[in-house]
Amino acid sequence: MDKLTDQVAIITGGAVGIGFAVAEVLAEADIAGIVIADIENAAAAAADISKRFATDAVGITTDVADSAQVEAMVGEAIGKFKRVDILVNNAGIAPSVSWDEVTEANWRHVLDVNLNGAFLCTLAVLPTMSRQKSGRIVSISSVGAFLGSVCAHPAYGVSKAGLIAMTKSLAKAYATDGILVNAIAPGSIDTPLSRTFGEAQLQEFIEASPMKRQGTARELADAVFYLVSNRSTYVTGATLHINGGSLLV
Ligand SMILES: NC(=O)c1ccc[n+]([C@@H]2O[C@H](COP(=O)([O-])OP(=O)(O)OC[C@H]3O[C@@H](n4cnc5c(N)ncnc54)[C@H](O)[C@@H]3O)[C@@H](O)[C@H]2O)c1
Repeated sequence: MDKLTDQVAIITGGAVGIGFAVAEVLAEADIAGIVIADIENAAAAAADISKRFATDAVGITTDVADSAQVEAMVGEAIGKFKRVDILVNNAGIAPSVSWDEVTEANWRHVLDVNLNGAFLCTLAVLPTMSRQKSGRIVSISSVGAFLGSVCAHPAYGVSKAGLIAMTKSLAKAYATDGILVNAIAPGSIDTPLSRTFGEAQLQEFIEASPMKRQGTARELADAVFYLVSNRSTYVTGATLHINGGSLLV
């Protein structure tokens, strides 16, 4: 029941952090193929997975904000593996930019990577998933969708709220096609991204959080696993809150 044998996943931003932990969890479940689509270090991350697990992992350097690169990446994935069962829209950026520093260019860039990137990747896999009559799409949102951006760019929370609305409309549109579409809204997770916010910000979060700690990338990846495996067959359009209770305060 927990095995993903014969399945193929595309994980965007899968070279480090949450995305890489997702690759590890899927590989532990004996998934046949993984495509790590990342703007940097994709090949090295894939080589690491292939070396440690019985999974054929390939890294494809991809900027998810670029439609031609996304189409080429998904084309290469389908050319190699002939199917796509799982898409994890995980690539994201959270530059520390205040409202005083917002420009049209940096606002658009955050939306292009975090929201439009997920849209482009989803659009590229849907024909294959529809043909298969099965698929799982999980987009990594954030507590920022509910609280507004805390220390990241003002467009960050907007982009993450957009992912949740996109998830709901896709879930309704594809519910009878065997494609389940969900989102996860993490709280603060210990990854290279959250370390960019600095020690003071981190301590402030930990103090305010009911569980008094950050989450781990593995705790996030286990939630992704639930949504993409046969442990969940009646969940679509949902947002899982994986945040140690930090929306309660
Ligand atoms: N870490 C947290 O506290 C936290 C909290 C809430 C939500 N999230 C979300 O989870 C996701 C993963 O976060 P993380 O903490 O692992 O981040 P991370 O910075 O550690 O890893 C993100 C990965 O995305 C890649 N990436 C960045 N821009 C890209 C692009 N244009 N195209 C392709 N790949 C790109 C990076 O190269 C990197 O490998 C992000 O969407 C982030 O917004 C993280």
